[in-house]
Amino acid sequence: MRILVTGAGGMLGGDVAAAARGRGHEVIALTHPELDITASPALHAMLGAERPEAVVNCAAWTDVDGAESHEDAALALNSGGAAELAKAASAHGAQLLHVSTDYVFDGNALRPYRESDEPAPRTAYGRTKLAGERAVFAADPGHAVVRTAWLFGAGGKNFVATMLAAAAGGREEVAVVTDQVGCPTFTGHLAAALIEVAERRIGGIQHIAGAGQCSWYEFALQIFSQADVRCHVRPVLSDEFPRPAPRPAWSVLESERPEVPRLAPWQDGLAACLAEVRTGLAR
Ligand SMILES: NC(=O)c1ccc[n+]([C@@H]2O[C@H](COP(=O)([O-])OP(=O)(O)OC[C@H]3O[C@@H](n4cnc5c(N)ncnc54)[C@H](OP(=O)(O)O)[C@@H]3O)[C@@H](O)[C@H]2O)c1
Repeated sequence: MRILVTGAGGMLGGDVAAAARGRGHEVIALTHPELDITASPALHAMLGAERPEAVVNCAAWTDVDGAESHEDAALALNSGGAAELAKAASAHGAQLLHVSTDYVFDGNALRPYRESDEPAPRTAYGRTKLAGERAVFAADPGHAVVRTAWLFGAGGKNFVATMLAAAAGGREEVAVVTDQVGCPTFTGHLAAALIEVAERRIGGIQHIAGAGQCSWYEFALQIFSQADVRCHVRPVLSDEFPRPAPRPAWSVLESERPEVPRLAPWQDGLAACLAEVRTGLAR
């Protein structure tokens, strides 16, 4: 297949391009300077020239706190950009795979969120991402929206990198919250699943995240254990870390659709990520 990846300079985008190449596809991987997804004429021209069969959109406004004070700008990208991409993909016969988030939910559930659960975002970021989902399906109900959560990868700013950097910087203790629970998701595993979704042309909303669940506190313990690093993790509550955007207490996603790819347990994702980090360090 010919697969075009937007936001290819980001944490997930880089892994999606690599996963697609690894499965033998022809890949057009475009970073932000190479394609701005809010620039409609350039978008149409690019898709017309490249003629991809699938477009994976990894471009987004991902600064959750920043979105609270810049909601219009976040909306222009997370909804406006997604809408333009969805329309351009339809016009050129490609399926769009758009990446979304657990933040579309209110985070108050007592069981994992499924695709048919009603979204109710509590943050500006969540509102802009939900608007993007709706814009994608308004353009074409055959497109795909893949909701995921708690991403970490070898090439980006994320919780695993933050914990490892804290320990490497000589910190003997980190304070990490116990009252937010979610599904840590390795971008390498998600990327492979996204390519499978494109190959099988699965449409509609799909929940794809690392199997299992844990709190950020448990995640930190597992990171230091697997990395064989000494750093004490002090359990704390979210109240100790007030932030502009409230973090969801519950970010656990599961799929009620049998055809949607399942990911390996999050602990396996962490092991794969740490192996990549070690390989990168060894280079
Ligand atoms: N990170 C998470 O924990 C998480 C959880 C759930 C869902 N998601 C979703 O997963 C997707 C990928 O996230 P990520 O963590 O890989 O994000 P990321 O590392 O911040 O990557 C986003 C990329 O989008 C690019 N970009 C920004 N504005 C653009 C524009 N107008 N046109 C084209 N590209 C643009 C950025 O480039 P510049 O930096 O050069 O501007 C960046 O390379 C997003 O849709 C996000 O909402 C993330």
